Amino acid sequence: MTLATIDHELCDREGACIDACPRMLFLRGKDSFPVERADAQSLCIQCGQCVAVCAKGALTNHLMEGKEFLEKADLNRGADPLAWVMKARRSVRAYRHRPVDKAVFRELFDVVRYAPTGSNTQKLWWIVTLEPENTRILARLGLEWMRRTYYPDSTDEDWAGGADPVLRGAPHVVLCCAPEDYAGAKTDAVIALTHLDLLAVSRGLGTCWAGVFLKAVGGWPPLAEALSLPPGQKVYGGLMLGYPRYDFRLVPPRKPVAVDWR
Ligand SMILES: Cc1cc2nc3c(=O)[nH]c(=O)nc-3n(C[C@H](O)[C@H](O)[C@H](O)COP(=O)(O)O)c2cc1C
Ligand code: SF4
Repeated sequence: MTLATIDHELCDREGACIDACPRMLFLRGKDSFPVERADAQSLCIQCGQCVAVCAKGALTNHLMEGKEFLEKADLNRGADPLAWVMKARRSVRAYRHRPVDKAVFRELFDVVRYAPTGSNTQKLWWIVTLEPENTRILARLGLEWMRRTYYPDSTDEDWAGGADPVLRGAPHVVLCCAPEDYAGAKTDAVIALTHLDLLAVSRGLGTCWAGVFLKAVGGWPPLAEALSLPPGQKVYGGLMLGYPRYDFRLVPPRKPVAVDWR
């Protein structure tokens, strides 16, 4: 059964759905129109990106109810800017070839350093790849791990086009580190990264949590060595970061909140 229908009258063949899908379920087909992979329906995680990113409204995902998507333009950013960011932010998997200035990073961290930490321990520190080429080096090492784990049957030819399933071509990766003997490290890191995520989006940047990259750091010694962490220190989380290539027109639906009111 097909996952999606793409209206060729509306589709501008820009390929935003191809770039945005976390599972890479679309590829370029005949006349450059996106086509879905054979097993797309079973792999779709219903994130809604393919529908939300299409500027022309050309894509229908049959696993998702079209009328449940919100128009981003209808959210009142001015009235409640933080709520706007929290609803309108999307994981960005396609970035412009424009690096983020160090001054912008400095400004973000000047806010993020106020994030709460357990017992005010403030043990977090950060690695930022300022140079996109340094991000690419890490992404290539991550891909080596991914090919051994997720894609053991893939060939060099399959990756000759430069696809980056690990860091999605982001110009930067931001890693949050802490001492490995600090019990609150993971929680503090996730809080700080979440503050960074939301603040970055409020500044027009795009981000995506780098979970696959983190797994690769844990599973592929050459990648861990490339990070050259001081002894006793560990990476607890990371975000890809850069200027987004596409604007998302829609906000995908999410489950209603589950609360046990007492
Ligand atoms: C802990 C965590 C790790 C993630 N790791 C990745 C990743 O490695 N690659 C990726 O493309 N998306 C990653 N994501 C993004 C999720 O797939 C995404 O948040 C989810 O599909 C919802 O989409 P949205 O963020 O656009 O609302 C991660 C998200 C979280 C919270
Ligand atoms: S809903 Fe998400 S995972 Fe499913 S096809 Fe669309 S972009 Fe890919």
